[in-house]
Amino acid sequence: MAKVLAVIANPREGSYTKKLLRGFLEAYKSYHPGDEIEELDLYRTKIPVIDNGVLMAWTKVEEQLTAAEKSMLSEIYRFTDQFVSADKVVFAAPMWNLHFPPALIAYIANIAVAGKTFCYTRDGVHGLVADKPVLLIHVRGGVYSHGPAQALDHAVPYLRSVCSLLGLNNFQTIICEGIEMYPERSGEIFTRAMAETAKLAERF
Ligand SMILES: Cc1cc2nc3c(=O)[nH]c(=O)nc-3n(C[C@H](O)[C@H](O)[C@H](O)COP(=O)(O)O)c2cc1C
Repeated sequence: MAKVLAVIANPREGSYTKKLLRGFLEAYKSYHPGDEIEELDLYRTKIPVIDNGVLMAWTKVEEQLTAAEKSMLSEIYRFTDQFVSADKVVFAAPMWNLHFPPALIAYIANIAVAGKTFCYTRDGVHGLVADKPVLLIHVRGGVYSHGPAQALDHAVPYLRSVCSLLGLNNFQTIICEGIEMYPERSGEIFTRAMAETAKLAERF
């Protein structure tokens, strides 16, 4: 039985991204009825911020940590451990300002933890997480997969790089783009992405 973690980074009611995630998870459940799906809605969860207190605690060895620091770090490691223990991860996040909603960036700071999920070596960065499939479901108003705005996509390459940094190289995407740029075709664009989720759910 595999554990699937679905990380949702969108506060918007009626969001396309969330509809695609629902479609994906429903299809996934029908193909993999024994698997367990855990949802983490980043806009309904308090995500710890990496502040000065955390940075100071990270300079200490375990024995030097105060009780307050231990508790602060355990709040972060709850998310790190949940991410590490998942067998498969699905991110559902739209494009905001050429990147992702800030809650996702804050979450990534909780799972990309030096010494826990990656380490620095003389040869560069080494991922410490056992490889697993990662899927990004991503909706954006414009078109970035080709054409003049291609270099402006700071979302997909970023998440792919973060995953690779952690040791996760099986990175897949469902990208639904141009939904606002071509309003007359938005229905067709969305339907095509939904059909893709159903197909991918079988082999993910
Ligand atoms: C705060 C904000 C910033 C956005 N920035 C971009 C952007 O930089 N590029 C883009 O193509 N679309 C942008 N959009 C449009 C969204 O990507 C688009 O509305 C998409 O459908 C959002 O997904 P959702 O339906 O899941 O909320 C932005 C939307 C919002 C609310």
